[in-house]
Amino acid sequence: MKWTLKSKIQNIIALLPSSISYKLYYLLQRKLGGLKKINPISRLQAGIEVGIQLKNQDKITTGKTFLEVGTGWRLNVPLALWLIGAKKIITVDLNPYLKEDLIKEDMDYIRANQEEIKHLFDGLDFDETRFRSLMDLTGRDWHLTELFELCDIQYISPGDATKLTLSENTIDYHISYTVLEHIPPDTILALFEEGNRIIKEDGLFIHRVDYSDHFSHSDTSINAINFLQYGEGQWDKLAGNRYMYMNRLRHDDFLDLYKQANHNILTVNTDQEPGIAQSLETGTMDIDDRFKNKPNDILAITGAWIVTEIKKIEIGNR
Ligand SMILES: C[S@@+](CC[C@H](N)C(=O)[O-])C[C@H]1O[C@@H](n2cnc3c(N)ncnc32)[C@H](O)[C@@H]1O
Repeated sequence: MKWTLKSKIQNIIALLPSSISYKLYYLLQRKLGGLKKINPISRLQAGIEVGIQLKNQDKITTGKTFLEVGTGWRLNVPLALWLIGAKKIITVDLNPYLKEDLIKEDMDYIRANQEEIKHLFDGLDFDETRFRSLMDLTGRDWHLTELFELCDIQYISPGDATKLTLSENTIDYHISYTVLEHIPPDTILALFEEGNRIIKEDGLFIHRVDYSDHFSHSDTSINAINFLQYGEGQWDKLAGNRYMYMNRLRHDDFLDLYKQANHNILTVNTDQEPGIAQSLETGTMDIDDRFKNKPNDILAITGAWIVTEIKKIEIGNR
């Protein structure tokens, strides 16, 4: 679908009262959009990537408590974490988007493709016993509450990751997948600060940020940084609604936010879309003044996994 049409539809639906708006948006996504044909692979892989990032930091997942910010429609990230040993996964979302029928469809896929699913976890400590109990549960008539109970998933929604009721030192890992690009900068900082409060001393933050213009995911006629050509007002008119808000922060802006939150960056894995660097170098793309001063190699970054920890207080030489 042409992205400008999608933007108009989203802007109109966002004007409706919340309860009707969410239902209609879900219906359209299910009939025509990203939820028309689903399978759990990409989000299981997201949870697996969190496990890989932790392994690269010599951290274990077994027995650990995760806080996921921004659950979304389904539960595949928490499920993957549970299958690699997580003790508990608290998943919080501002909006109660979670849908039982989508989760059941994901589980049907997992049941029908068990070997494929198990292979995704190669190289990690996959818990075969847990997998079998998941297959047992979902092989009969089951309810979402039973899945929550089996996998120790606590779903908090509506819930705001900037203001949680959790006590200090309760979580080991603070994670999100393609969430932070949808949150205004001040709120991201508040979210990190709340994370600083609840995370244990040796805890880590693992976040995947998708810097790309999300309209480019379904309209191949535009590239992943198409949105950088628009001024703030113009962009707000196109996508400043609850369904498509994107802060357009670039990778360097995110690194600054981490610094402001008093974090040490431990690892950054970035990706770039082929062709973008070239269009930037040849000047064939219009770039708005907000982004003009940034180096091309920053503008060309379309996503990153960022692993951080709170800066330790250094004790000076005595
Ligand atoms: C683009 S969705 C991503 C959902 C999911 N992680 C995925 O990959 O499909 C972003 C989610 O973050 C949630 N969100 C935004 N701000 C939040 C906040 N302050 N606290 C908790 N969730 C938030 C939104 O409601 C939305 O469900």
